[in-house]
Amino acid sequence: MVYQAAIQLDGKPQSFMKSEETFQIDSVRLKLSAPLSNTHEWIGQREILNQLLACWLVVDDQDLPLTPRLVGVPGIGKTALAMAAAKLRGQELYVFQCTADTRPEDLLVTPVLSHDGKIAYHASPLVTAMLRGGVCVLDEGNRMNEKSWASLAPLLDQRRYAESIVAGVVLHAHRDFRCAVTMNQDDSTYEIPDYILSRLQPTLPLGFPTRQDELAILQYHLPFAEPEMLALTVEFLQRSHQLKLDFSARDGLNMLRYALKRLAQDREHPISKDHAWREALERCLGEDALNLDNLAKRRQRELGANSLPLGLGDFFFDSDDPLHPDHDDDDM
Ligand SMILES: Nc1ncnc2c1ncn2[C@@H]1O[C@H](COP(=O)(O)OP(=O)(O)OP(=O)(O)O)[C@@H](O)[C@H]1O
Ligand SMILES: [Mg+2]
Repeated sequence: MVYQAAIQLDGKPQSFMKSEETFQIDSVRLKLSAPLSNTHEWIGQREILNQLLACWLVVDDQDLPLTPRLVGVPGIGKTALAMAAAKLRGQELYVFQCTADTRPEDLLVTPVLSHDGKIAYHASPLVTAMLRGGVCVLDEGNRMNEKSWASLAPLLDQRRYAESIVAGVVLHAHRDFRCAVTMNQDDSTYEIPDYILSRLQPTLPLGFPTRQDELAILQYHLPFAEPEMLALTVEFLQRSHQLKLDFSARDGLNMLRYALKRLAQDREHPISKDHAWREALERCLGEDALNLDNLAKRRQRELGANSLPLGLGDFFFDSDDPLHPDHDDDDM
């Protein structure tokens, strides 16, 4: 069913026709994305969940929600946290996966040639969340280049709109629209320009869970896992957190899943639990993970080597330059 309505979007009247799947703005009909089914629960770490929920509160008619950055090592639960927060607020959830190839039109509206030869306009998950008053998680935001981020600048400040050049429409965000951006720190990411970072505040850093929470997370996702296997995995993850290694809940879940599959494979001649667990550790996380202490020492050494204090000569000469004051002739 298509019906006409006029609503007040963040103070600006906008008339539109709305159906389950389309949304009309001026003469342009947008095909909307479907929301994700979202059953995610967040286990433990209430403080970070409360911080995110606070960002999305509006405490006065003059107030605006914030768009925070969720940061932390891969697999620590950034996306899961944002999804769980959307569920707690009872809002539709949309996730936009940002990549190095994401273009501004991918973020907003994409023209698609339909079967009758006409152009159909598809609203991205972000625009659908804006129009329907849902939550959008911009996932792995720092994989996206500056040009795409630039198209979101007015959306992420008090203006709360985005302009689709392709469809020739200005899209105003519904007052219930909320957004969060997840970010990883690794070499394949872009530097996000400061004028965008200043619109993505506050920064909410996710830390590793406590032993009790980590066990509850593994149990929640793998309720069929045997206590012995869960205990081995939690012990491993907690030790790796103590040693400041970046193994995460996702790593624990993947290796446990593999170990459980190996155990279930041959009911007549089952391999031992210990064997299955060690094999899973090695196959999922690499041989190095078998000896966490050695791995931690090596990482420390690598870190130390990369951060040797600079001498005056380092400012004027490359380290292998024979004119460098610390150059050792034996190296030649
Ligand atoms: N506190 C938690 N409660 C419930 N599930 C969790 C929690 N922490 C982590 N997980 C689970 O761990 C897995 C990895 O989490 P998620 O995908 O959110 O990590 P991420 O930080 O977004 O990783 P990436 O940076 O690679 O995108 C998921 O299966 C997620 O549900
Ligand atoms: Mg993620």
